[in-house]
Amino acid sequence: RQGSIEVICGSMFAGKTEALIQRIRAIREANEDIQVFKPSIDHRYSQTRVVSHNGDAEDSHVMMSSEALLEAVNEDILWVAVDEVQFFDEAIVDNMLRVADRGHHVIAAGLDLDFKGEPFPHVSRLLSMSDRVTKLQGVCAQCGKKASRTQRLVDGKPARATDPLIVVGGEEAYESRCRVCHIVAT
Ligand code: TMP
Ligand code: MG
Ligand code: ZN
Repeated sequence: RQGSIEVICGSMFAGKTEALIQRIRAIREANEDIQVFKPSIDHRYSQTRVVSHNGDAEDSHVMMSSEALLEAVNEDILWVAVDEVQFFDEAIVDNMLRVADRGHHVIAAGLDLDFKGEPFPHVSRLLSMSDRVTKLQGVCAQCGKKASRTQRLVDGKPARATDPLIVVGGEEAYESRCRVCHIVAT
């Protein structure tokens, strides 16, 4: 049984989780089983579900660490979905590779770039080592053009380069922006 890794990446509000949910539903409609995982840090909309910005949701298993994936994957279930991969530690990549080597099809979704426009290093590695990549774009909240970046706002102003990398949030703190409109304050 040959496994695989597929990644859905892009900025916030680009429809990554929505695309993942569509894949999960299509697989289930084909009468195949899929296990869905997300990191415990993402309590934004729901403690236990994978939820898109437009409110679509699927139940998921919450993982405290990337190691939990190895134990949690059921040998008999071909498909594995993981949302918000950027929140995991870098061991998530090796653990996903191991799951794919055991013959599972892994579909992961997450941010490729942080609020500064810099790659999340383990997501970069995952993209390079995956079999298939879909990069989604949002709509720039400033100019309406296609957006590949995520703007973080603090009290309505662009976040600073020295701000923490991880700040869980949604529309109150983030918007998608194009290269021209994306700002990192110094
Ligand atoms: P989303 O891609 O499903 O919209 O969610 C991205 C999550 O990542 C959201 O909780 C905000 C968080 N985030 C960070 O922690 N740091 C960042 O640099 C960016 C852009 C988002
Ligand atoms: Mg999402
Ligand atoms: Zn713009």
